[in-house]
Amino acid sequence: MEPLDEVLSLLVAAPEETLISGEAMARHLGISRMAVSGRISRLQQAGWHIQAVPRRGYRLLAGDRIDPILWQDALRTMALGRGDVSFSMAVASTNTQMKALAVAGAPHGSICLAEAQTAGRGRLGRPWYSPAGEGLWLSVLLRPNLPAAQAPLLTLCAALAMADGVGDVSAFRLSIKWPNDLVHHGKKVCGILTEVAMDPDGIDYVVVGTGLNVGKHAYPPELAHQATSLADGGTPPLRRQVLAAYLARMEQWVDFLCREGPQALADAFAPRCITLGQPVQVSGSVTLTGVAEGIGADGSLLVRAQDGELHAVLSGDVSVRGVMGYV
Ligand code: BTN
Repeated sequence: MEPLDEVLSLLVAAPEETLISGEAMARHLGISRMAVSGRISRLQQAGWHIQAVPRRGYRLLAGDRIDPILWQDALRTMALGRGDVSFSMAVASTNTQMKALAVAGAPHGSICLAEAQTAGRGRLGRPWYSPAGEGLWLSVLLRPNLPAAQAPLLTLCAALAMADGVGDVSAFRLSIKWPNDLVHHGKKVCGILTEVAMDPDGIDYVVVGTGLNVGKHAYPPELAHQATSLADGGTPPLRRQVLAAYLARMEQWVDFLCREGPQALADAFAPRCITLGQPVQVSGSVTLTGVAEGIGADGSLLVRAQDGELHAVLSGDVSVRGVMGYV
């Protein structure tokens, strides 16, 4: 561990609000108090907010930072968040970065995380607005032992995992709009972009990217009517708490899919999905109006069209909206 990280680790490990004395740190690290204070100054210069109380010690004020050193010890997963972990202040797109690392051999469970994305990508080639410090811009690399046809179900796993994870660390109860949106107060608060690479034997890797709007920020006018954040109507949880909870839940839902099979996952998703029972409009490669009746074992939305025929709509290149609006 780098000398600066050693001091940072001690500050992170101290129970919240408690001060840790320079003497205790010096003893623990086998260095002088002068050296401790030098390292504290360098951490402060690097942007860490460390409060120094004369004759009593130091306290880290981590705010809503998402640096891995702040959450890695709190992870309750076997694999997710434990492979290659990339954290940057700004990156074009965490999904694009994760795919490059996947091609270079990164293991199952690796993640890319960024404070900001300069070219964040949404579904259907849309841009994803990702301002610095205002959201959880995260991509997870999976190398699941699943047939290729089941890859779309990983998007449903991520939607369940994000709704569960946010619920684990806050009072927010997010709804799921098929296949990849989480909804808060009737507007979109999180989107999911799943990208699959195949090899001759099936899935090579899957990158599941989630963009959760957390902070209160102004959206571009074209998004304002349908986008929101967790800061709408309450105090949002810390992003690093959501991250750890999401990774734990995602691991559980992926294990559930692998163990119990696609029908069981579709059955678990259906009661959580607010699209079901609604009149919907499907547009894109398929154009259709009808009522959403169920979830197929391939992750499709089963829509009863006006002529009575049941259509299985796959998420690939369609967008689904309630007939009356976004939800
Ligand atoms: C959508 O609803 O259209 C999907 C949005 C997905 C956005 C996330 S943010 C992290 C990851 N990196 C990207 O470029 N996109 C996804």
